[in-house]
Amino acid sequence: MAGSSSEIFALFGNPVRHSLSPLMHNATFKRMNIDAHYVPFCVKNLEDAVRGIRGLDIRGVSITIPFKTAVMPYLDEVDESSLRIGAVNTILNDDKGCLKGYNTDWIGLIRDLKESLDMRGKTFAILGAGGAARASVFGILKEGGIPVILNRTVEKGEKMARDFGCPFYPLSEIGNRKADCLINTTPVGMNPDRERSPLAKESLVHFRWVMDIIYNPLKTRLLRDAEEAGCMVLSGAGMFVHQGAEQIKIWKGVEPPRAFMKQIVLERLKERDGN
Ligand code: ATR
Repeated sequence: MAGSSSEIFALFGNPVRHSLSPLMHNATFKRMNIDAHYVPFCVKNLEDAVRGIRGLDIRGVSITIPFKTAVMPYLDEVDESSLRIGAVNTILNDDKGCLKGYNTDWIGLIRDLKESLDMRGKTFAILGAGGAARASVFGILKEGGIPVILNRTVEKGEKMARDFGCPFYPLSEIGNRKADCLINTTPVGMNPDRERSPLAKESLVHFRWVMDIIYNPLKTRLLRDAEEAGCMVLSGAGMFVHQGAEQIKIWKGVEPPRAFMKQIVLERLKERDGN
């Protein structure tokens, strides 16, 4: 049970049932001896929910699907990266009751990528043009990488390409594109659609690394195909852990134990996958 002095943190999304954030954050708070509890809320009315952050003295919130963009107008401040990406995944309720929005998805992505490759000067083919794609392109540009956007819907991809000043190609042209690293930001292949992939296996030979930001399942069809095509693969679990670690840094101002967080998440995902 939460004591009266315990701090409360929350997850706002809809649905939230399958999220691993409560498991990861609660285990990490405990490990760090932080007296805090992290509670998932399936949000019915976003404006009311955000008002409740102050009313209930919730100290920090993670924002997930489908509210990452919709939440922005309700906040007192939004940092520059979130504005450029157009999405917030973290709220801090500061000591003065000011609600500040941040985006840690892009930091999560580059922290994970940098564990495997030196990003500077490398080319990245980004599949998709939603919020996750925008966070990815933002992070890649920050690290001196060269992103190319590929998307099913041309207008959406072109708009994003204009926003970030990078090239766009329709997804159907993937067979003609080469890059150091391919990153899937579409939901194709996520449980329960584990046998689907956004790409034909033949097109994967043009990439040295293939990353899927999906972490459920840990090894998507895309990653299995990529391994067979001789690529090095990265699941979305690392990015998930790092974006959560960055949230704890924003909320508590301290560096959390990332290896521990990863272990907790991987254990649960392996259980779910039945491995
Ligand atoms: P998020 O904000 O989580 O990134 P999103 O805004 O819904 O999610 O974006 C999902 C991306 O995945 C979109 O770019 C979408 O392509 P469209 O712009 O054509 O809609 C892409 N996507 C979703 N389902 C897809 C599919 N079956 N094949 C290819 N791309 C798909």
